[in-house]
Amino acid sequence: MNFYNTIEAILEEQSVHVKIEKFKQFYEEYKKNDIDFLSESEAKYFENPSYSSTCKIVPPQNVPKRSNFTTKEGQIVLLHAIAHIEYSAIDLALDAAYRFRSLERQFYDDWLEVANDEVKHFLMLESLLHELDAKYGDVAVHDALFEASQRTQTLLERMAVVPRYLEANGLDATPLILKKFQKLPQNAMLDKITKALHVILEEEVSHVKKGDYWFAFACKQEGKDKDVYFAIIDKYYPQGFLRPRVVNTDARKEAGFTCKEINFMAQKQVCG
Ligand SMILES: [Fe+2]
Ligand SMILES: [Fe+2]
Repeated sequence: MNFYNTIEAILEEQSVHVKIEKFKQFYEEYKKNDIDFLSESEAKYFENPSYSSTCKIVPPQNVPKRSNFTTKEGQIVLLHAIAHIEYSAIDLALDAAYRFRSLERQFYDDWLEVANDEVKHFLMLESLLHELDAKYGDVAVHDALFEASQRTQTLLERMAVVPRYLEANGLDATPLILKKFQKLPQNAMLDKITKALHVILEEEVSHVKKGDYWFAFACKQEGKDKDVYFAIIDKYYPQGFLRPRVVNTDARKEAGFTCKEINFMAQKQVCG
């Protein structure tokens, strides 16, 4: 089995469950070492995300808002939004393994492990959607994550933007959602969503940490200081660190951020 050709086919697969099945088979082969890394052609530039035949894509401001989490409708909108992030993240992890070639084996181990986690996260949320008689594709989505991945075509920029900015933002955002839940009346589905979000939050730390490792690797390769991170984020997200944010200090530290970076993001001394 050829590594790059197989991942290309998985990335291009439009059917959600066929994609997941293909990935699982491939990952089994990969772990058995039954794979060749011959790069027979250049990595493709993808025009459209693989979910474009499953989900209606709209501009971010038109995506239905998550509002009342105690109602079925509110829970569907929330679960769908997170399931969509997880589904997008499967392709993002695979795209890193597919696009950045001839690196050491650890790079491919890392991003396939992340893809495998994202599959688990997606399936977990999808089963909760099914419990609410809904499915992936029922709610309009935006393609900001896909856009971010296709706009960053170097290892340095990709690692800065995808794991070290976008996934890391999730480490800050998830505890805020969980906090909101605590203030709401008891609800069985909300309990299940809470448990799922805890699992996701815990595992996402390792994704950001892998991103941090490979970002540092790319900095070294290009003879750059890790501070280049802020210039890259400013290039893609000029509003990114403009306002102070509530930072998940422990998770970010565990994932490799320095106190200097964390304090800069919080715009006050929260780490030190
Ligand atoms: Fe995830
Ligand atoms: Fe992730």
